[in-house]
Amino acid sequence: MKAARAGMTTGELDDHGRRLLRAAGARSAPELAYNYPGATCISVSPVIAHGIPGKHVLEEGELIHIDVSAELNGYYADTGASMCVPPADKAETRPKPEVQKMLEATRAALSKALRAARAGRPLNGIGKAVQLEAKRRGFNVIYDLTGHGIGRRLHEAPGEIWNFSNPSDRRMLKTGNVLAIEPFLTTGQGRIREMGDGWSLRTADNALAAQFEHTIIVTHGRPLVLTV
Ligand code: CO
Ligand code: CO
Repeated sequence: MKAARAGMTTGELDDHGRRLLRAAGARSAPELAYNYPGATCISVSPVIAHGIPGKHVLEEGELIHIDVSAELNGYYADTGASMCVPPADKAETRPKPEVQKMLEATRAALSKALRAARAGRPLNGIGKAVQLEAKRRGFNVIYDLTGHGIGRRLHEAPGEIWNFSNPSDRRMLKTGNVLAIEPFLTTGQGRIREMGDGWSLRTADNALAAQFEHTIIVTHGRPLVLTV
């Protein structure tokens, strides 16, 4: 996130991510688990997930989504964030007001979701919290993209964590559940389409979208947040 600047390519940004992983002794999870063509996922709007890093030159103000998941000593963690690309000579930029609103709403949805992730409570409370916060701030959730259980594998039990309420979901949260919680908010209808490269997922209506993600361990109190 801190390294992204206008004028660099998404491939160069990915190289930076790969160096950081290597320095920590970690391996790229999507590369390891899915033979993904990159160390990190860098999606340029309206692509919202699984964007392949490559020749695209970042432009100032462009909305991008960086998702990094890694394996170290057999354990996995997953994190992601959306941002607008700063100019070449600055660390930050001020997004357009409607984008800023969406970024704030998505961050707030993640924070509400983390609060709902408590042992003894229904797992569905997470999606419910995301959807409620999205609605309250005038956004929709993306129905087709979910969080997930994580730990010994990138995707594992207790399975998918939707970003909306599904009352028929009877799963309960337990102490020690490791979850990747990742609300996706959008100004559009909340449906996703795969692009021709077989990886990139964009909003079906090309609407703006944002994602923030953390990996957590469920406890009886506030969850332990494992990612930054
Ligand atoms: Co992720
Ligand atoms: Co994830």
